[in-house]
Amino acid sequence: MRTQVAIIGAGPAGLLLSHLLARGGVDSVVLETRSEEYVAARIRAGILEHSSVELLESAGLGGRLRQEGDQHRGIYLQWPGERHHLDFVDLTGRSVWVYGQTEVQKDLIAARHADGQEIHYEVSDVELHDLGSDRPHVTYTDKNGLDSRLDALCIAGCDGSFGPSRQAVPAARIYEKVYPYSWFGILADVAPSTDELIYAWHPDGFALHSMRSATVSRLYLQVPNGTDPRSWPDDRIWEELSTRLGHGQNGWKLNPGPITDKSVLPMRSHVRTPMRHGNLFLAGDAAHIVPPTGAKGLNLAIADVALLSKALIASVKEKNPALADRYSDDAQRRVWRCTHFSWWMTTMLHTSGDPFDAELQLSQLRWVAGSRAGATGLAENYAGLPIGY
Ligand code: FAD
Ligand code: DHB
Repeated sequence: MRTQVAIIGAGPAGLLLSHLLARGGVDSVVLETRSEEYVAARIRAGILEHSSVELLESAGLGGRLRQEGDQHRGIYLQWPGERHHLDFVDLTGRSVWVYGQTEVQKDLIAARHADGQEIHYEVSDVELHDLGSDRPHVTYTDKNGLDSRLDALCIAGCDGSFGPSRQAVPAARIYEKVYPYSWFGILADVAPSTDELIYAWHPDGFALHSMRSATVSRLYLQVPNGTDPRSWPDDRIWEELSTRLGHGQNGWKLNPGPITDKSVLPMRSHVRTPMRHGNLFLAGDAAHIVPPTGAKGLNLAIADVALLSKALIASVKEKNPALADRYSDDAQRRVWRCTHFSWWMTTMLHTSGDPFDAELQLSQLRWVAGSRAGATGLAENYAGLPIGY
């Protein structure tokens, strides 16, 4: 099989890349280890930045997002006894949207189907070859057990943090920080108890009240690494959320409901550079991981692909390699901004048990919530910098 761009991974990065390439007149074939149903159902991120929404809309993917997504002006930042609203629209003119990654994924799958995009699900043994040459190729075993080969002009590694692409970039410089806590996430069939997200600092640990729709809530608790979600009965989860989110504070109430999903997510920052080796280009989680606080992972994958699609279109169609040559440096600028912001939000809001750290966190929270300069810094980063930053 031959195509112009071989894309490894049908997550948001891989599918959006194939969509943007097709709009630019470049063919691609996507290879994915999981099934289409699995990929579409994975519960992950929930918040889209202003620029991500603009990009999806400009690519013809904004229809359901505008109808079913929920535009938020900002977030609440809280600690015991105090809750402050940060209005991103007032502060920066930019907003965010609550629209689950599962929905983005479904929209992408529908759009690629409508275009007749070739996506091979349930492949295995994916290996990358001859990346330094102008005849790179991928070998794999297809769904029916047949040995297969895909030749391309270039390969996009969009296969997340466990895929083979990142391993195929030699002499990569790797920066990594592992955090001493995890997020316990639940999905519950209950109307959100808040109109916008609540990020709560609490001496017992961080808590976040997010949502997926008018009837589905998404909530997170800071827990020790290695926590088994089955060791937490539902009552204990709601009790802990109520305490940390301030049930009863100024008459506010947390409404509990049936929990439909429980998972524990370890947290780390990981950046590898460069994001290119020969004709292999990395995008999304294949190149970097951020801790979830601040909701950057999905948005960063979208921003990478916005740059990479332009670079590959110029390279394949116009034989102009200038953007491809700059891709890694251009993308890394935003990667480091989001890496810093995610680290900053994480370390400001998660408790370590050290009383000195706790006082510094509270002082910083009071400054961010109380000063227009502090609030604007958070808002600019959360609502997201323009693509190309
Ligand atoms: P992925 O979505 O990981 O897609 C990679 C794809 O490659 C997958 O479909 C995978 O099956 C496929 N693949 C892997 N190996 C191979 C192979 N050998 N061959 C072919 N295909 C392969 N971000 C937030 O902002 N907020 C959150 O709340 C949040 N929660 C998360 C929860 C979890 C459990 C995880 C893992 C991530 C979460 N993230 C969150 C991060 C966010 O979901 C990711 O940043 C985003 O999915 C990145 O998209 P991607 O396409 O780069 O990678
Ligand atoms: C969600 C996840 C985040 O990491 C975050 O900062 C906000 C919301 C969510 O899954 O809804």
